[in-house]
Amino acid sequence: MRRQFSGPADLRAMQELTQRIWTPESSVHIGDLSWQRYQSTGREAEWPTAIWAENDTTLAWGWVTLPGELMLQVDPARPDLATEVLTWFAEVATSPTLTVTIVDAEKHVSTALEADGYSREERAVFETYMSRDLDDLPEPVVPQGFHLRPCTADDLARRVEVHQAVWHPSRVTEESYANVMRAWPYRADLDWIVEAPDGDFAAQCLIWHDDHNGAGELEPVGTDPRYRGKGLGRAVCLAALHALRAAGAHQAVVYPVIGHPKSVGAVPLYASMGFRAHARSATWVKRRLTAP
Ligand SMILES: CC(C)(COP(=O)(O)OP(=O)(O)OC[C@H]1O[C@@H](n2cnc3c(N)ncnc32)[C@H](O)[C@@H]1OP(=O)(O)O)[C@@H](O)C(=O)NCCC(=O)NCCS
Repeated sequence: MRRQFSGPADLRAMQELTQRIWTPESSVHIGDLSWQRYQSTGREAEWPTAIWAENDTTLAWGWVTLPGELMLQVDPARPDLATEVLTWFAEVATSPTLTVTIVDAEKHVSTALEADGYSREERAVFETYMSRDLDDLPEPVVPQGFHLRPCTADDLARRVEVHQAVWHPSRVTEESYANVMRAWPYRADLDWIVEAPDGDFAAQCLIWHDDHNGAGELEPVGTDPRYRGKGLGRAVCLAALHALRAAGAHQAVVYPVIGHPKSVGAVPLYASMGFRAHARSATWVKRRLTAP
């Protein structure tokens, strides 16, 4: 019942589990899987990925980043599979230290980690899980001459330029972002930008809508460094959140990184829009004497 990842249909199979067991305390949203898989190209060899399924129902998956990091999800109704994922991970990882990131609410996974000899380790850099319902959204406001709108496929080059300016150096290219735009559940009407008076894109917010759970995830969000501190990050997120609500969602989530120099503005931005933290990522580590 275990199979190796072999293409886009398998990403959908992983997302089927992610969506079925999703709560705001889940470690990943369906949007994370599409964004992380497609934002760059040519990394498949670094990403051993396996799926455990029965009768077309996905029960667990593991996604390794070599040499030794694991992201996983396991159906809480099948906690036994957490141990199987960890055994597979130890076989495919090539480093002496094995690192697994989850959230505290995933007790069935942390129990398996502990039983397998992992220890929880405090890290200076971690993700905080923030959420907000969509009842009382303020209206977005941009300075004169700036323009808020969702982007289209014709905007690909400028959409990639603003991403690269925010995250320099970035692996995102026109080829990879075109893949993002083709991935489920991407929607151009939830991919918002602020256009500057000279036509450059100054800020962006992409939301991934999980219409089964009524929850959208903001990923990624950014303002070109030349345009920061003008309210554009807030405005582009609020505009995208209004579009998310119009699409039928009742909740938004976002997982900013704490402790990373590139992301210092993220938590203040989301807090200023009414997002509140409710969970955080937890890193579990196991050291082995020799790598296989
Ligand atoms: C985070 C980011 C998008 C903010 O963009 P921005 O356009 O400068 O933000 P805004 O001007 O709209 O500011 C919105 C609020 O956040 C606060 N804020 C923004 N950056 C801040 C910073 N570096 N330090 C403290 N507060 C900050 C503002 O004071 C403002 O608060 P207020 O509404 O209470 O006055 C931008 O800094 C960025 O692109 N950072 C790198 C990428 C990133 O971290 N993205 C988020 C990943 S989840």
